[in-house]
Amino acid sequence: MNSSAAAKNVAGADLFGGAALKPSAQAFAREAQRLATPGEWLRFAEKCYEQHRLALGQIATNAHDEALYLILHTLGLPMESDERVLTRRLCAEERAALAEVFRRRIFEHMPAAYLTREAWLGEQRFYVDERVLIPRSYFLELIGPPLAELLGRPREAQRRVVDVCTGSGCLAILLAQYFPNARVDGIDLSADALDVARINVREHGLEARVALHESDVFDALPLPKSASEKYDLILSNPPYEPSAHCDALPVEFTREPRLALDGGGDGLDIIRKLLAQARARLAPDGIVLIEVGGLQEAMEREFAALRPQWLPTEDGSDCVCLIAAQHLEGLCPAG
Ligand SMILES: C[S@@+](CC[C@H](N)C(=O)[O-])C[C@H]1O[C@@H](n2cnc3c(N)ncnc32)[C@H](O)[C@@H]1O
Repeated sequence: MNSSAAAKNVAGADLFGGAALKPSAQAFAREAQRLATPGEWLRFAEKCYEQHRLALGQIATNAHDEALYLILHTLGLPMESDERVLTRRLCAEERAALAEVFRRRIFEHMPAAYLTREAWLGEQRFYVDERVLIPRSYFLELIGPPLAELLGRPREAQRRVVDVCTGSGCLAILLAQYFPNARVDGIDLSADALDVARINVREHGLEARVALHESDVFDALPLPKSASEKYDLILSNPPYEPSAHCDALPVEFTREPRLALDGGGDGLDIIRKLLAQARARLAPDGIVLIEVGGLQEAMEREFAALRPQWLPTEDGSDCVCLIAAQHLEGLCPAG
């Protein structure tokens, strides 16, 4: 089949007997054998994403971008390749590799990042697998000059920072990169997640400044003995989905660890514990930053006394809150 015929087939409604019908695994395998170029694969994959209603949002927000990423990655081509690569002829081995990657994405609903074992936050690449949430935090927008401004001192002067619920370690690593003299703690309850974080800390060459701890929030970390041991910044992207939301997630999101998403009945379980424990560990001029997803109203209701400030994010969701140390006084101290 030449490429224009394949393109017509892939774009047309009749390929599997109508656009509304999901192709079976057998029909998928048959069609996959006929695809001769990356461009044909791209059009075919986009159609399959639509027919199988694949969930997006873990590494890309549209089928075109995600499918193109999977194709380039599988073929070992640079992400910045120009569109001429889409017309090159695939060898049998490459066709088989693409068929296997898209079979898993389409029929197993396996997230793309778990297939490629990598995820990106900005320019930074992180190793990921099913033991950790796929990184997609709003903190990417904030860790940088906006954060230095919030802290009110030069980035070189930042000494003690903690990333609670560190998962893959991605935010602890961004913090250590941005604050060149800071010692960064990364805390997670999951030993499996910490194994992944260790890989990333090593790959980013930050073992000397990023320490990882297995702990339920701060439970396993001793209280600071002196003011200099207190944190200037406590940052967290905790699990914050209410449990009922987690029960209704698309399959792709259920491939991520439930522990990384489920924040209990109202989503606030970990946030409550974190705020209760923060006071004893935060320097008097320190701040707490927490990403809370859709929990703004719940936070305002329960923690009005802490005067949460909502930091602007590009998409207008403004779901990261800042709480200053002096406003934590009203909370009962806990460990
Ligand atoms: C939303 S993920 C965030 C991961 C990473 N910081 C990121 O932004 O990609 C939440 C993480 O919190 C961890 N976690 C859940 N409950 C915890 C608890 N009680 N104490 C510490 N970590 C917890 C999970 O294992 C998971 O790695």
